Amino acid sequence: MTRLILLRTILGTILGAACLFAQNAAPAGNAQNGRKLFENYGCYQCHGREAQGGIGTGPRLGPKPLPYAAIQKYIRQPTGQMPPYTAKVVNDKDLADIYAFLQSVATPPPVKNIPLLNN
Ligand code: HEC
Repeated sequence: MTRLILLRTILGTILGAACLFAQNAAPAGNAQNGRKLFENYGCYQCHGREAQGGIGTGPRLGPKPLPYAAIQKYIRQPTGQMPPYTAKVVNDKDLADIYAFLQSVATPPPVKNIPLLNN
């Protein structure tokens, strides 16, 4: 009996952890297609071609983007000046690709490694 309870506890913990992981994990997407979609849907007009953001237009989105769930929520129901993108406009597959693109954005070199900025 105690063994059964122990087994249930262990199984429950594993399943619980797996669910948590599934919630936080971003769906697999195609970064190359995501870059194209980022341009086609006009995200770049406010957030910049490399998602670097622009003063007065939109914040930086990459590198190291917010968690997928947060980005999905924001583009569907923005609370500021950004126009909403419903699932009819940008479906979840397209969004997964855009997210893969944001994850692929490279971190720029530190300022001390750029000679022109160290004169
Ligand atoms: C017309 C300009 C504009 C366009 C086009 C636009 N955004 Fe935005 N976006 C903004 C602004 C401005 C904000 C800052 C919050 C606000 O005012 O809504 C923002 C915020 C965001 C945020 C939240 C960032 C954070 O740090 O909280 C995400 C994610 C985002 N945009 C993604 C996208 C994606 C993906 C697209 C294309 C499908 C897109 N945006 C298109 C202007 C734009």
